Amino acid sequence: MTTIANESITVTALGNGIGAQIDGIHLREPVPPEAGMQIMAAWMQHKVLRFRGQQGMSTQQLVNFSKLFGELDRAPTPANKTGKPYLAEFPQVTAISNIVVDGQPIGGLGSYEAEWHTDMSYNEMTPSASILYAIEVPPSGGDTWFCDMYAAYDKLPADLKTRIAGLTCVHDASRNSAGMLRKGWKEVTDPRETIGAHHPLVRTHPLTRRKALFLGRRLNAYIPGLTLDDSEALLDALWQHAVRPEATWVQQWKVGDVLIWDNRCTLHRRDAFDASTRRLMHRTQIAGDRPY
Ligand code: OGA
Ligand code: MN
Repeated sequence: MTTIANESITVTALGNGIGAQIDGIHLREPVPPEAGMQIMAAWMQHKVLRFRGQQGMSTQQLVNFSKLFGELDRAPTPANKTGKPYLAEFPQVTAISNIVVDGQPIGGLGSYEAEWHTDMSYNEMTPSASILYAIEVPPSGGDTWFCDMYAAYDKLPADLKTRIAGLTCVHDASRNSAGMLRKGWKEVTDPRETIGAHHPLVRTHPLTRRKALFLGRRLNAYIPGLTLDDSEALLDALWQHAVRPEATWVQQWKVGDVLIWDNRCTLHRRDAFDASTRRLMHRTQIAGDRPY
């Protein structure tokens, strides 16, 4: 564990090459340019940053902080059937929550497990980052796990590296991160017919210029040009290699935690939790680019 003091802010590595905590800054106030640069550098190095003790941040303050990392992306389709944004004044902010009001879930993902994924990679333009702000956390469960996809690429056996160079993968748009079929989508029965964006299996991070394995999610993924059996076997090998426990870091939430992760070089998953307890996160996402 390393702690680097940078005038007022400190960066403490939390995991095995992924995850760090930033202390000494209140996100309710505008972040001074110097601190903003330190945060950006720490984020590029550690891929996931945690800011603790940020209770009482307003939605406007969360939006202001989020803009430090780029333009806000549109929010995913609302989970409820009204089609209205979670907060009328903040269409870029969504809730990740199991709370139900008047028979309608106020946010996405319920209390289920969310399998390993990177956010919204079924789109041509994929968000560079997602930010969660913990407002209510359940007494247990609901931990969020992260996996380092630079390490996944760097440590790939040479023969696999050679095999996947130049290959793309189809990222299924039909299901959400909890594996639920999206409204209006048909069940995929043959991954060769999966609908969604095609992205390179190896992408270059636009800021660090490092290569990362870019897998999206496993369900219904397909590598065009391969037989279905070959695609399944290759994807299974890549996934097994990528999400080894030693390459992961787990976030155990406290109220007031703000977490930002880089969707270009990490995967995440979430543990299920007791549906009779409450979990409420506010979420923003930062617009990114077309993976290359
Ligand atoms: C997300 C997500 C996990 C969590 O917001 O994209 O996967 O811990 N959330 O709620
Ligand atoms: Mn997600």
